[in-house]
Amino acid sequence: MNKSDSEKIAGILECLEYQKTNKIDLADLVIVNMCSVRQSAVNRVYSFKKLFETIRIKNPNLKTALTGCFLPTDEKKFSQIFNFIFKIKDLSNLPNILIQEKDKRKQEDLKDYLSLKPKPDSLTSAYLPIMTGCNNFCSYCVVPFTRGREKSRPANDIIQEVKNLIKNGFKEIILLGQNVNSYQDEKINFPKLLQMINDIPGNFWIRFITSHPKDLSDELIKTMANCQKVTEYLHLPFQSGDNEILKKMNRGYTRQNYLKLIKKIKKYFSFKSQILEKREIALSTDIIVGFPGETKRQFKKTVKIMKKVKFDMAYLAKYSPRSGTTASLLKDDVPNCEKKRREQKLNKILTRTALKRNKKYLRKNIEILIERKEQNNIFGKTRTNKGVIIKNAPESLDLGQFINVKIIKVSPWNLQGIYQ
Ligand code: 5AD
Ligand code: SF4
Repeated sequence: MNKSDSEKIAGILECLEYQKTNKIDLADLVIVNMCSVRQSAVNRVYSFKKLFETIRIKNPNLKTALTGCFLPTDEKKFSQIFNFIFKIKDLSNLPNILIQEKDKRKQEDLKDYLSLKPKPDSLTSAYLPIMTGCNNFCSYCVVPFTRGREKSRPANDIIQEVKNLIKNGFKEIILLGQNVNSYQDEKINFPKLLQMINDIPGNFWIRFITSHPKDLSDELIKTMANCQKVTEYLHLPFQSGDNEILKKMNRGYTRQNYLKLIKKIKKYFSFKSQILEKREIALSTDIIVGFPGETKRQFKKTVKIMKKVKFDMAYLAKYSPRSGTTASLLKDDVPNCEKKRREQKLNKILTRTALKRNKKYLRKNIEILIERKEQNNIFGKTRTNKGVIIKNAPESLDLGQFINVKIIKVSPWNLQGIYQ
């Protein structure tokens, strides 16, 4: 979501005729798009104070701004570092803030946050927010406070934007939302939206993040499996394998519910693969270790789920209290070294399962999307979201092309293929 917001900021700045520089000391304007989900990211923003002071010695005109996810309680401290601060939902007001900049007509084109035009970083994949905010209030999470309540974008606007993206050559549409499963525009729910996007003519892939286990319906699983353009990849955070911790996290499901769901998803996809081509789904997840009061016994339940599901990828986080959340009222009593130990333990399992999953690709011919070219090497990805490198690839291959490659080597984190 933050990456998509940064693309929107870049879109607005381009509209205002700003030019991008990779050298921060040459910049007239620096906009930091922050994330408050973890304390380490917040600390990095504080560290910019020194950097800006150093740049200003040579470039006293430097303007700095802060946006993204931050808590109102932190705003005062940040206002001592940045020239101005604005909420991401007020992004459309950025031109006004930039001293009623340049072209008034362009300003009028900038409507509300969800309809702002991004300037994509990638030439092949486009991030498309379909909703913003979250109503779930997981006890550890700042998102409902920083992004506010759920708001879905009208389906017609989304369809129109996908059509434009496809016309402009994009080959992968990544639908974004804190909880895409609760998308709702009048009678159109998320599975219906997926079906509508799948029906748009053209050769492209559809991906989406993030799904909440409590809202992942049978209708969605069936739609995913039936829509040829929807890729075989699902990010489904489980956060903890222990029911007591899940309850304290206010996640709204149990370990049994989660495992049943995974079983259903895997079964549905392997069933489909017998009739159609092979459609085996890749699964990734988010896990928090060291939530307040998490005992070693409770942590072992998380280990068990990791071993059982055999994820392709997992994003592991050590619990960090976020002010304003209900969990921050609980004592953060798992020592940091123990959180680290738990994280390392899960990382070891992940490395093993990711390698095991990737070994299935060895000697197989698979379709990839070319995303990047560097000298003679090509970087692409599979429908299952795995990075693939092709060394010494033919010059004639281009970004955005779908090609078939034979996988000759695998590691836990990527695949290596040859183009024949
Ligand atoms: N501490 C650690 N991890 C967190 N996440 C969200 N809030 C916290 C927190 N307070 C993680 C969750 C979520 C991901 C985006 O960030 O795993 O799914
Ligand atoms: Fe945060 Fe939970 Fe909403 Fe995800 S579902 S954004 S973890 S409150």
